[in-house]
Amino acid sequence: MKAFSALTSLALVAVSQAHTIFQKISIDGVEQGQLRGVRAPDGPYSTYPIQDLTDPNMACNTGIVYKDDIVHQITAGSTVGAWWGHVIGGPQWPVDPDNPISPGHKGPISVYLAKVDDAVTADGNGLQWFKIAHDGLIDVPNGKWAVDTMIENKGWNYFKVPSCVAPGNYLLRVELLALHSAYAAGGAQFFMECAQVNIVSNGTHTGAPYTTFPGAYYPEHPGILINIYDQYGQPTNAKKEYTIPGPEPISCPSD
Ligand SMILES: *[C@@H]1O[C@H](CO)[C@@H](O)[C@H](O)[C@H]1NC(C)=O
Repeated sequence: MKAFSALTSLALVAVSQAHTIFQKISIDGVEQGQLRGVRAPDGPYSTYPIQDLTDPNMACNTGIVYKDDIVHQITAGSTVGAWWGHVIGGPQWPVDPDNPISPGHKGPISVYLAKVDDAVTADGNGLQWFKIAHDGLIDVPNGKWAVDTMIENKGWNYFKVPSCVAPGNYLLRVELLALHSAYAAGGAQFFMECAQVNIVSNGTHTGAPYTTFPGAYYPEHPGILINIYDQYGQPTNAKKEYTIPGPEPISCPSD
């Protein structure tokens, strides 16, 4: 019996390991439906973060079980929301302090696009990505991170699709980087999913120069190998600026 309880506790610890899944979008404030047009994994063991930056699944994650043929029509210039939950549907238990994510999992959120011929059939691997938005340590004096805003917004992370992005089908990759263990090499935790979108636009910006996943990040980047704790053990980055990994988001003359 004793062995059994020990095992049970271990199992509970394992499944309640804090993770988070991007699983719904909104466009200009209109929610587009749970798991519609978003490729998402499921199950406590398939939603772990990616920590190996050379992982071939860095683009759109692994263990995808939710995938449909919906392509969201997004007019360039729109404000899009990405909704994160601890597990599929949000909370794992009736009262789940780790929904939408463990509040200790501080870090930036970055948004990328990759042009594809067909967002439904496109393979996430081998694409050319560019960044359209990111937030990191958004309030340096108060140690407030993009993750804190997402928790305040009950799982929603909002960003603008730049007005000059060229039209067409894209995969929209939203990535949350949790830095609570990033003080040790390989400790940074990457969570990401991809949505299927068609951008309606008169723009011509194709996003070059591009980056790749894997490939965009390296282990010693100051935003990836970093101790975010101050002398009091608080995740404030000691009130210093934080450098978000990856390229700068594209900018449009008119935005
Ligand atoms: C593209 O340009 C046309 C003509 O000026 C305009 O009617 C349309 O609203 C524009 N579309 C977008 C997405 O900006």
